[in-house]
Amino acid sequence: MNFNAISLSQLPALLCAMPKTELHIHIEGSLEPELIFELAKRNQVRLNYPSVDALRSAYAFTDLQSFLDIYYAGASVLQHPQDFYDMAWAYFLRAKADNVVHAEIFFDPQTHTERKVSMRTVISGLHQACVDANEKLGMTSSLIMCFLRHLSEESALETLEQSIPFKDLLIGVGLDSSERGHPPEKFERVFKRAQQLGLRAVAHAGEEGPPAYIWSALDVLRIERIDHGVQAIHDAVLLQRLAKERVPLTVCPLSNLKLCVFSELKQHNLGQMLEQGLCVTVNSDDPAYFGGYINENFLQTFAALNLNASHAYQLACNSFEAAFVDASQKQAWRTQLDACFQTYGA
Ligand code: HPA
Ligand code: ZN
Repeated sequence: MNFNAISLSQLPALLCAMPKTELHIHIEGSLEPELIFELAKRNQVRLNYPSVDALRSAYAFTDLQSFLDIYYAGASVLQHPQDFYDMAWAYFLRAKADNVVHAEIFFDPQTHTERKVSMRTVISGLHQACVDANEKLGMTSSLIMCFLRHLSEESALETLEQSIPFKDLLIGVGLDSSERGHPPEKFERVFKRAQQLGLRAVAHAGEEGPPAYIWSALDVLRIERIDHGVQAIHDAVLLQRLAKERVPLTVCPLSNLKLCVFSELKQHNLGQMLEQGLCVTVNSDDPAYFGGYINENFLQTFAALNLNASHAYQLACNSFEAAFVDASQKQAWRTQLDACFQTYGA
């Protein structure tokens, strides 16, 4: 591939056009304020904000917790399978427009079961949207059920048991919510049981928490991908291991910026980690809250870090490599990617 043939002025269009997977998207974080208001009306839920604009202007975060408080409040409008469907369908339309070929979607059942919304309601609505995305948009997807780490091990174990009837509709489990003070090892038994059930495993680690949480996600939980992982930069031995084992990191630059993990996008370490041979990928995390879907993450990060077409190619390849799909599917996407780059003269 001749990356030098692609000029800087072509790069934004190429970033948007290239096929990519999205592996770090919380579906509740794709709930736009307009849809929150529509669902609140439909379900007669009272919101603490008088208008869409008032809600949107509350999206000024200082850290992860300040975001989570408002994110869980937004999710309270979701009550029926159709609500979950509508939320996921809106995401799929956005992802399709960004040339996402495959999405692995996080959802937080405890946010809903704690409000007496059943596991069946949550999963049936999301799953139907996945089926329709495949049939109508030609996009594949799978669901990853996340445990809220600020809740107890017992609650996570119970959630896992409740999901067993729907196990075949899930690809894996994850771990999210407030990181500091809730190390991965709190959930050792939960992840062991999930893996015995045949589920894949990922975990948020090293977003705000220390590199030690990345080590224990790998060695105690035996996860296959790290979500965020940007704090690995402070541990040279860990960086070497991540590079050597090609452990994927699902990085979310605009999320890191909005939650003040980096003070400016220019300070982000995505480019450094890519140069050091890590399998980093670009993702949107909670796009309705952080100011952009996946292509916006690519565009702003490439502009801030002066990345080029070769980096774009590597990031797309990494997004295929890191996906929970078989090798022939990855090869098919790679062929699509090469064809796309060739249309830009590479
Ligand atoms: N980190 C932890 N938990 C989350 C996030 C995140 O970025 N988004 C939604 N839940
Ligand atoms: Zn996340």
